[in-house]
Amino acid sequence: MKKLLVTGSSGLIGSEVCLYFASQGWQIHGVDNNQRAVFFGPQGDTRWNQQRLAGLIHGYQHHELDIRNRQGVLEILKDVRPDAIVHTAAQPSHDRAAAIPFDDFDTNAVGTLNLLEATRQACPESPFAHMSTNKVYGDRPNTITLQEFHRRWDYADSEFAGGIPETFSIDQSKHSLFGASKVAADVMVQEYGRYFNMPTCCLRGGCLTGPNHSGVELHGFLSYLVKCNLEGREYKVFGYKGKQVRDNIHSEDVARFIAAFISTPRVAEVYNIGGGKNNSCSILEAFDLTASFTSREQVYTYVDQNRIGDHICYYSDLTKMREHYPGWDITISLKDTIQQIVDAWKGRSSE
Ligand SMILES: NC(=O)c1ccc[n+]([C@@H]2O[C@H](COP(=O)([O-])OP(=O)(O)OC[C@H]3O[C@@H](n4cnc5c(N)ncnc54)[C@H](O)[C@@H]3O)[C@@H](O)[C@H]2O)c1
Repeated sequence: MKKLLVTGSSGLIGSEVCLYFASQGWQIHGVDNNQRAVFFGPQGDTRWNQQRLAGLIHGYQHHELDIRNRQGVLEILKDVRPDAIVHTAAQPSHDRAAAIPFDDFDTNAVGTLNLLEATRQACPESPFAHMSTNKVYGDRPNTITLQEFHRRWDYADSEFAGGIPETFSIDQSKHSLFGASKVAADVMVQEYGRYFNMPTCCLRGGCLTGPNHSGVELHGFLSYLVKCNLEGREYKVFGYKGKQVRDNIHSEDVARFIAAFISTPRVAEVYNIGGGKNNSCSILEAFDLTASFTSREQVYTYVDQNRIGDHICYYSDLTKMREHYPGWDITISLKDTIQQIVDAWKGRSSE
């Protein structure tokens, strides 16, 4: 039986990956210490998801480990010797990082190095998939000429009509401390690929979403927006007239791509993984879509100050992913994703 080690296993992407590979017959080892509750308070708690996995996955093995614990990470990799590693544990918030710079860097950059080096020592041939972020591009996407529409921004430059490709520069722009710690991890994951010829990849996520996100104001925009809508709670829009565009990909489509990479790995690859143009929406459009399922108007206030370094318009160019893995494509539309998030929050609030 093949063994998969997933860090951040109780989070959105980690849990989806655990379930997907378990359904394919893999033995699953999850690593998570519920740090999300420390980063974001009780609303970010992921213990419920850990329990869900234990109930759904036969023989699920949870390891209560902080990835900053270098010796602990080395021991677990040597003990389990997984056939593949999926690294999703992180301090994931752009805005939170400035208040906790050491926790952010130690988790995102140093934690990733701990895992890479432990993998090299224990099982260098095992594919290593790392969740990176589109924030590695910093605010450079904001330099692309834009066109303003009634409810959204879009690229006016035809070079980016299909979205942002992986060749876009990550250099000399404002990243936020989070973006910078993720750049360090991203480059290190590439380096372990190129330098040691290990099968690694960086997945630079747009908005990764789905019904199992513990969305909070500072992370998980769509999940949090739907939650606010259902509870009649005020959602704060920060700048750009609410027309800022995000591309949203369901966590199941992310898990399917990771499985495709692990089955036919390549060395030191980088992919922009998001919903692409078809699954993109502005905040105002997300309000409309959500209201179409809940029949509740979104209560919101507008703050005329954008989040530092926030993208005005970002959607991923999925061409490279589709070319390298032709069996993969987006299978869940934005509408279906929002419907699932609505149903999930309703279910969780009635528990
Ligand atoms: N969700 C998004 O929109 C998005 C977008 C781009 C990139 N990403 C990246 O994808 C990855 C997964 O994101 P997510 O949305 O699933 O996040 P999440 O917060 O839902 O899950 C991350 C999990 O990691 C755990 N964790 C955090 N620090 C840890 C540590 N030091 N030791 C052990 N466990 C720890 C948390 O408790 C949490 O359960 C992250 O690397 C994130 O930066 C996410």
